Amino acid sequence: MKRIIVLLFGLFVYVQVLRAQEEDPATTEPVPPDVRVVISHLCHFKKPLQDPTDLDGDQYCDCDVHNSATGLPEVQIDCRRHRLGDDFWQDYEQLPQGTIRLDLSLNNLTVVPRLRGENLRYLNLGHNQITTVPDKAFANVSQLEELDLSSNLIATLTTDALGGLSKLRKLDLSGNRIGQIEVNAFSNALQLRHLILSNNSLGAFFNRTEADLYLRLGVTNRLEVLEMQRCNLTDINLASGVGLERALLGYNRIQQLTKLPKQLAHLDLSGTPIRSIPAKFLPHLLHLESLILQDMPILYTLEEYALYGLPRLSILNLQGSRNLSSIHPHVFGQNVVRNETDTELKRLILKGTNIRTLNATLKFAFENLRLLDIRGAPLRCDCQLRWLRELPNLMTLGICVKPNALREKRFGMVEPHQFQCRAEQFWIYTVFNVLLAILLIVLVSIGIFLIVRAIRPKPHVQMRMVGANSPYARVTIEPNRAEVL
Ligand SMILES: *[C@@H]1O[C@H](CO)[C@@H](O)[C@H](O)[C@H]1NC(C)=O
Ligand SMILES: *[C@@H]1O[C@H](CO)[C@@H](O)[C@H](O)[C@H]1NC(C)=O
Ligand SMILES: *[C@@H]1O[C@H](CO)[C@@H](O)[C@H](O)[C@H]1NC(C)=O
Ligand SMILES: *[C@@H]1O[C@H](CO)[C@@H](O)[C@H](O)[C@H]1NC(C)=O
Ligand SMILES: *[C@@H]1O[C@H](CO)[C@@H](O)[C@H](O)[C@H]1NC(C)=O
Ligand SMILES: *[C@@H]1O[C@H](CO)[C@@H](O)[C@H](O)[C@H]1NC(C)=O
Ligand SMILES: *[C@@H]1O[C@H](CO)[C@@H](O)[C@H](O)[C@H]1NC(C)=O
Ligand SMILES: *[C@@H]1O[C@H](CO)[C@@H](O)[C@H](O)[C@H]1NC(C)=O
Repeated sequence: MKRIIVLLFGLFVYVQVLRAQEEDPATTEPVPPDVRVVISHLCHFKKPLQDPTDLDGDQYCDCDVHNSATGLPEVQIDCRRHRLGDDFWQDYEQLPQGTIRLDLSLNNLTVVPRLRGENLRYLNLGHNQITTVPDKAFANVSQLEELDLSSNLIATLTTDALGGLSKLRKLDLSGNRIGQIEVNAFSNALQLRHLILSNNSLGAFFNRTEADLYLRLGVTNRLEVLEMQRCNLTDINLASGVGLERALLGYNRIQQLTKLPKQLAHLDLSGTPIRSIPAKFLPHLLHLESLILQDMPILYTLEEYALYGLPRLSILNLQGSRNLSSIHPHVFGQNVVRNETDTELKRLILKGTNIRTLNATLKFAFENLRLLDIRGAPLRCDCQLRWLRELPNLMTLGICVKPNALREKRFGMVEPHQFQCRAEQFWIYTVFNVLLAILLIVLVSIGIFLIVRAIRPKPHVQMRMVGANSPYARVTIEPNRAEVL
């Protein structure tokens, strides 16, 4: 059944193409907008079942016809790396009927081709050399839901560039040279859910106080995902983004963030030059579930209360933050320690950090923890880490580096009683030594006492003898004797 429809559609397109080709192309160009004539340079439906090896010198794209869920044929056109330069395009390109997907990436386009297609939902113009997006460039592909303009040379986004794209849900502008975005440039994209602006130098632009992504640039607060990595940002105000769930802001020069929307569930600040996470670094993020702080170059500590007030936080990833060496025992606050609140933390990734030990007080925050990955950290498997080994339900991945007896041993393979401190041993030695010293002193005292006792009677006798002969003796001894007698 499907095949028959595909064949019928192929036949239909073939007939249309033949009809179109019969006419002189020069005269067919100014087609009235209401006449449905397929004029496509992209597909070659004469040979619908092309030999896949027969690609040499063929400028036609790979056009795939198949049935949609509704039974209507859909065309997907793949023109990646087809050397479709600017001269390939005529005034405008009417896409074959039913075209839902067109990939024009990796060609050497410098201008946006003027496309017409009522059903086009996905358009990829990435990896070209496009320098400007003219006003309303996509007005005749107004059903677009996904537009990829990444890795081009666009410098400015004008107010009307996205005119007519009211169905757009995902827009990728990463890897361009955008340093300027005009007022309300995004206000046409009413359905925008995912905006990617990474790898553009937008720091100076957003530094200006009025450059608010929402209020000034017109991004809808329906936006759920915002990617602005490597944009040289020093700060950004996202407070109006009430629908924002994921914010990827890594590899910027951000040092603090105070204007984040309360609804945020996922925040990535990897690679930012933050030296230490202070108390209440992320205030009011009651819905934050995952916090990614990977490859932080100069992050040294998570301070007391740094992760306080994040009741839903379940994933914390600090992988590759090589300078991170201390996590405060009260990083989640005193309430957790006093068992007044719980943490939801389920996965803690400390892989490749400089963490040697974790204070036992953290066990209160680790009640729900299921995975702790400390591989590559210089773990000191001594008595201070024994508590971690004894936590039930926790999988800990890591390798002991110290003490020498446990070197290279996998954390999970070391028995709790093997987590010992030299300090502990010292203590026993000290006690032992003290006891020994006391014993010695006691023995010596006893010895001295005995010696004294052994020696004492002699002078006593002598005294008596002397006393008997001395003139004082009578006076002192006699009354005593008298008493005793
Ligand atoms: C694009 O143009 C450059 C030179 O400007 C050339 O080296 C490259 O091969 C071209 N790419 C394609 C896909 O034609
Ligand atoms: C869209 O189509 C109209 C005719 O319907 C045409 O005048 C206009 O130039 C087209 N725009 C683009 C960007 O192709
Ligand atoms: C941004 O640039 C970096 C290198 O400069 C590259 O690795 C990364 O893939 C780029 N990302 C995007 C989204 O263009
Ligand atoms: C980032 O911004 C600073 C100015 O604060 C500038 O000196 C630097 O060149 C910018 N870096 C990039 C990659 O644009
Ligand atoms: C933004 O402004 C701050 C000072 O307010 C400055 O230090 C920083 O370099 C600026 N960033 C850019 C990218 O211009
Ligand atoms: C750790 O910080 C020092 C400066 O304090 C820096 O030189 C070094 O590169 C950092 N290490 C890593 C892995 O980034
Ligand atoms: C904390 O309190 C909960 C009940 O509220 C209890 O199940 C849990 O065992 C307590 N944890 C500690 C460490 O006391
Ligand atoms: C762990 O933290 C508690 C509370 O801050 C502190 O009293 C204790 O000395 C710490 N233990 C170690 C081994 O540092």
